[in-house]
Amino acid sequence: MSSTLIGIRDDTVDGLYSPAKQKAANRGNYTSRSALFLRRAPQLLAAVKFKLLLAFSLLCLAIFLSSKLSSFMGWIPDRASLVSSPYRGSYTVLINTWRRNSPLKRTAAHYASCVGADAIHVVWSEIEPPSERLKSDLDRAVKLKSWRPDIRVEIEENGGGGSGRFKPIDEVRTDAIFSVDDDVIVPCSSLEFAFSVWKTAPLTMVGFVPRMHWLDLDLLKSGGVFHRYGGWLSVWWMGSYSMVLSKAAFFHKKYLDLYTNEMPSPLQDYLARERQNCEDIAMSMVVANASGTPPLWVKGKIQEIGSWGTSNGKGKEKRNECLNDLLSFYETVPLLSTNVKIVNARQEWVW
Ligand SMILES: *[C@@H]1O[C@H](CO)[C@@H](O)[C@H](O)[C@H]1NC(C)=O
Repeated sequence: MSSTLIGIRDDTVDGLYSPAKQKAANRGNYTSRSALFLRRAPQLLAAVKFKLLLAFSLLCLAIFLSSKLSSFMGWIPDRASLVSSPYRGSYTVLINTWRRNSPLKRTAAHYASCVGADAIHVVWSEIEPPSERLKSDLDRAVKLKSWRPDIRVEIEENGGGGSGRFKPIDEVRTDAIFSVDDDVIVPCSSLEFAFSVWKTAPLTMVGFVPRMHWLDLDLLKSGGVFHRYGGWLSVWWMGSYSMVLSKAAFFHKKYLDLYTNEMPSPLQDYLARERQNCEDIAMSMVVANASGTPPLWVKGKIQEIGSWGTSNGKGKEKRNECLNDLLSFYETVPLLSTNVKIVNARQEWVW
């Protein structure tokens, strides 16, 4: 046994497969090859670059095709639930308008074109009632764009302002309300995504426009309590928020009732006096007070088509005033802050 083993070892050392010889041979080879490589490096590099580019393009193409393919093959889990329960799978769009020459027709037609829209209700807050012409134009624009032949568009006349923006509407069939201003366009895909988020958290507000509040520490030191209202810049800077504005947000229809009928009457009077100024902050507080949960901010591009400054005209001081006045009606601050931002996994490239 042992003799054969030794024999084999000898054979490898002395024979053709000597590792040392092989190494030496390789080394010689390598030096001449590396010289060649250095001389041809620029061409090789270009070739590698080209291949990388080609591979990247193919990858992009593959990703693009697979995303198309998934909808082509019908891998859209939501469609089925949409058909089986029409009212749970859809939402009512509540458009708020209070200006003459508002882009209402365009906005209404856009939301009618989204698959989940069950009906469009326009809350009319102008003093003058809408003209018959506008009503019929609106009806035609909506019917033209909607995929539902039975879509309804109703104008809820509000008698010129007051706190009627969130008045409950008897004909609403869906649990979900999408509240939106007449100059805000949210693409249907973002809307459907936010709706799917709302379905997982139907008691809270789910929206696209986050705002925040914080305690003013300078005033606190001097004994006062004062909260400040923060716009998008503050949200971006701090990475947290405690409200989503009803200019583009989903909430449960029961909050319409809570807002209009269950609020303490001094608070209702205050809102009636302030008209359009504080309603959106008030709604955030109603939902937060009832649900005990923070709102949810969904990533999405929204487009404001109105003239700049009309809907943003509410000055910072006015917003601070609203916030503090409204908070004074609550025993504790109902608003809760959060850092959650919800994104669509299908649209994120990096894990
Ligand atoms: C906040 O919620 C509590 C408990 O549900 C309720 O009693 C109170 O009236 C609410 N506050 C306001 C200002 O609506």
